[in-house]
Amino acid sequence: MKKIITLLFSVMGISAFSQQAPIYLNPDAPVEDRVEDALQRMTLEEKVAIIHAQSKFSSPGVPRLGIPENWMSDGPHGIRAEVLWDEWYGANWTNDSCIAFPALTALAATWNPSLSELYGKSIGEEARYRNKNVLLGPGVNIYRTPLNGRNFEYMGEDPFLAATMVVPYIRGVQSNNVAACVKHFALNNQEKYRDHINVTISERALHEIYLPAFKAAVQQGKAWAIMGSYNRYKQQHCCHNQYLLNDILKKEWNFDGVAVSDWGGVHDTKEAINNGLDMEFGTWTNGLNFGKSNVYDEYFLAKPYLNLLKSREASEEHLNDKVRRVLRLIFRTNMSPNIKYGSFGSPEHAAAGRKIAEEGIVLLKNDNNLLPIDIDNTKKILVVGENAVKAMTVGGGSSSLKAKYEISPLQGIRLRAGDKAEIKYVSGYESPAVKPQDVKDAQEPQQKKINAEVLRNEAVEAAKNADAVIFIGGLNKNNGQDCEGDDRNSLELPYEQDALIADLVKANPETVIIIISGNAVAMPWVNQTPAIIEAWYNGTEAGNVIASVIFGDVNPSGKLPFTFPVRLQDNGAHAAGDYPGDGENETYHDDIFVGYRWLDKENISPLFAFGHGLSYTTFHYGKATVDKNKMTADEQITVSIPVKNTGIREGAEVVQLYISDKKSSLPRPVKELKGFQKIFLQVGEEQTLTFTIDKNALTYYDDTESAWIAEPGEFEAWIGSSSIDIKEKIKFELY
Ligand code: BGC
Repeated sequence: MKKIITLLFSVMGISAFSQQAPIYLNPDAPVEDRVEDALQRMTLEEKVAIIHAQSKFSSPGVPRLGIPENWMSDGPHGIRAEVLWDEWYGANWTNDSCIAFPALTALAATWNPSLSELYGKSIGEEARYRNKNVLLGPGVNIYRTPLNGRNFEYMGEDPFLAATMVVPYIRGVQSNNVAACVKHFALNNQEKYRDHINVTISERALHEIYLPAFKAAVQQGKAWAIMGSYNRYKQQHCCHNQYLLNDILKKEWNFDGVAVSDWGGVHDTKEAINNGLDMEFGTWTNGLNFGKSNVYDEYFLAKPYLNLLKSREASEEHLNDKVRRVLRLIFRTNMSPNIKYGSFGSPEHAAAGRKIAEEGIVLLKNDNNLLPIDIDNTKKILVVGENAVKAMTVGGGSSSLKAKYEISPLQGIRLRAGDKAEIKYVSGYESPAVKPQDVKDAQEPQQKKINAEVLRNEAVEAAKNADAVIFIGGLNKNNGQDCEGDDRNSLELPYEQDALIADLVKANPETVIIIISGNAVAMPWVNQTPAIIEAWYNGTEAGNVIASVIFGDVNPSGKLPFTFPVRLQDNGAHAAGDYPGDGENETYHDDIFVGYRWLDKENISPLFAFGHGLSYTTFHYGKATVDKNKMTADEQITVSIPVKNTGIREGAEVVQLYISDKKSSLPRPVKELKGFQKIFLQVGEEQTLTFTIDKNALTYYDDTESAWIAEPGEFEAWIGSSSIDIKEKIKFELY
């Protein structure tokens, strides 16, 4: 079209369109030129307008210049339903039912970066179709305590795993001209007291554990936006935190995107102006202006900022930096060339979600190969547990979705069994109902009168007559479970499930336990139960996925992205007595020893280890070799290991590389994950995997020098099937 107009203009003797049109409107002009051109055309008022919200999820463009609005959406598991202009409640549209993708814990459990890219691409297409140019996700806060209500939205306890998985997700999203807004930067590791708790932590733990995934998101993933967190660090709220936003994110990492506040996370105009925040979103600012007409004018970065600019207490040059970033976001997304249409609620997206979920499910235990269940020879199957029927795409806070459909586990099992087996269901336990966040006038859930004993007895009686029992329980998205806004109270399963499981297994030893959760749970019955699966929150296709794993159509290949401790005290944040802080402050005494790093140091056996996950086939690890056993900091070495599928069906194994520093000036974890590869092997097939180790895999962060140090000395490369199932160790030296 542009070519035709250009041709027409030149035939008419008028110089070419592209030369006439303002640079900012020329999609072929470099983004930075467009930014500068637009910037110098804007009034002060227009500049201030584009750096804060105009509705719950949007901010204005510059209508006079034809620059469009920004529209944001949660994130991170699907595109949220439309809400009313000023409210959290749903707008009752009829065309906003999305595909619900698996929770990010499930994605992390695939240990498959190509699925992360598929996830990002698919959810990005959904966002683009719905005209959202910023996706509020992914979340990469490190899993520090199993009580954190939002762990299900994050990618586990290990910085290397989270960093590796987040990068392709971002690339996938942004390939649709939709910005990923990585959240919540930083140290938002619990929901309890989240809006004010002040975290004290060593520089070393900050750099080694809590920042790497964000850094990778910015530097490798090239994320176009990042969201500050609610909590405080160095006594400053993280949405306007000098050290995090200015010193680290913008100066050290050269982030050129937009630092967005979490909703209502801004508390002070001057701090927000000076300490690196670019855009303010929220609820009703600080709650003081609730119900006032156009409350957005009162936002910290609205009129109060404009007033300071007008009285010359704030500089326009400083404002220009924020405006440039917002314009850059718009030119990268809504005004980018060749913008796509996206697609929404499509079978392809459902299939993508299904594939991710199939690779994420973790087979924790499978004594005597109880699984998979042979559907041709099992006539009476009893399904027990509320999670077999409970909608899990609803609830949990801001990630709650209006899914186009959600196959429950019971439906999935029934669909797969067809008329081959009789499937009976009893709940066995029940929870109070969830209050959906997006539904206007949602009643507080009625406190049902639940008689746990009656429900339990009914299930136990039914179990006695079944050929197989499938228990489907775990956590859910109710408040106080896997849900934003608060944490769990304990590691134990809620609603008296432990007693139910123990009785079920006594009544029928052929009981399979399926836990649906985004967090580790205690399993006092672990030794009595032969088969256990961690099935996560798997979205739209959840039930079909569970059925395909239980009945063996899919061979599980997921590995845990976080440790299951036996007891809460086996976790560093709890052992050190830090969690949840005193309400105002919390010091992370567990320091760099998060997750398996803590258990290794204290010599504690986990219930299930980080990186653990079984298969219906078996793998044999051969002898590991190294190309040379000495390297300088400028060199690298390669470690190779053959892995063979020695079982009776095809399957995939995640081969993990950990580095152990034998002697160092500072204390170091016993080992740290520094590489992994997921390998698919046919029956009898063997492949040799090669890992490259360079100095980055050997460094630690030295607080005193503010630098990453690779200290010469002896190291070992440990290769294993989980963090505690190490098959081979290879020595090498850095000199
Ligand atoms: C959450 C964010 C979310 C935002 C918008 C906040 O309460 O912490 O993760 O993106 O709300 O819904």
